[in-house]
Amino acid sequence: MSSENQQRALRPRRSCLAVPGSNPRFLEKAQGLAADQVFLDLEDACAPLAKPEARHTIVKFLNEGDWSGKTRVVRVNDWTTEWTYRDVVTVVEGAGAELDCVMLPKVQAAAQIQALDMLLTQIEKTVGLEVGRIGIEAQIENAKGLVNVDEIAAASPRMETIVFGPADFMASINMKSLVVGEQPPGYPADAYHYILMRILMAARTHDLQAIDGPYLQIRDVEGYRKVAQRAAALGFDGKWVLHPGQVEASNEVFAPSQEDYDHAEMILDAYAYCTSEAGGKKGSAMLGDEMIDEASRKMALVVSGKGRAAGM
Ligand code: GLV
Ligand code: MG
Repeated sequence: MSSENQQRALRPRRSCLAVPGSNPRFLEKAQGLAADQVFLDLEDACAPLAKPEARHTIVKFLNEGDWSGKTRVVRVNDWTTEWTYRDVVTVVEGAGAELDCVMLPKVQAAAQIQALDMLLTQIEKTVGLEVGRIGIEAQIENAKGLVNVDEIAAASPRMETIVFGPADFMASINMKSLVVGEQPPGYPADAYHYILMRILMAARTHDLQAIDGPYLQIRDVEGYRKVAQRAAALGFDGKWVLHPGQVEASNEVFAPSQEDYDHAEMILDAYAYCTSEAGGKKGSAMLGDEMIDEASRKMALVVSGKGRAAGM
C-alpha cells in the first residue's frame, strides 16, 4: 500500500450526505449537519437543464461555504454523457483547492477512472494545485462495473472509495423491486449480499473504503437503520444519507457501540501485556472467558480504529 493510499483511507465517511448542486437552500443547510462527508451533486439530483448553472453554484458554495470537519466531494456526470468534462473543468478550476474528491458515477472500466485521473492532473497543473491531492470515488451501478470492480479499484492512486449505487444497479440487472435498498419480494434471502461482498473485497484488496448507497424511503429511519446495519455488519465504512433525519442513524450504525469499543481497548491492553517481557512473552492469554491472540488484536484494532475516528 502506498503511503498516499494509507492517508486517503483515513477520512471518516460514516454518513455521506447527498446535496443537489442546483439547490442553494439545501447547500446552505447541509453545512450545519453532522455528516462526515457531503457530496454536491451534478448527476441524477440535478435536472439536465439545471446542470450548467449548478456547476457555478457548486463552485461558489465550495469557495464561500463553511464545510469544516467534512469531506467535500462533487459528483460529476458519467463519461457516457456530454457533461463530464465540463463538470470537472468548471468545478476543479473554480474550486479545486476546496475539494477533496470527485465522485464518478456508473463506472464500468478502469479506463474511465484513468481518464478522470488525467483530466484532474492537467487541471491541477494548470491552476497550480498539488498534483494528485484530489481523490476519486467510483460508483458501481451496473453489472459491467461489478464484474470489473477489481480493475476499477486498482485504476489510480487517487482512488479512495468504491460506492454501491443500488438504485441504478437494481434497474440495470432487472431486479424486481421498486423500493431501493429493500429486498425484492419473492426472494427468500438477502439479494444484495453478493454485490456488497464483491465490492467490499475489491475495496479491501486495494485499501479503499467501501460505501453503501442511498435508502430512498427517507421518512423511515428504522428502515434506513436496518439496511445500514446490514452493510456495517459486513465491514462497510459508511452509507449515503439523503435526508437530515438519516445522518444520526448512519453515524451511530457505522461507529462501534461504546461497549464494543471498550472491549476492543481491553483486548489491546491485555494482548500487549501478555506478549511483553513482564507478561511472560506469551502468544495468547485469557481475558475473562475469552482466549485472545494476535488475530484478536487485529480484530480489536479495527473496532478501536473506527471508534477513535468517530471521536470515542
Ligand atoms: C445512486 O446513485 C444509486 O443509483 O443508487
Ligand atoms: Mg445512481
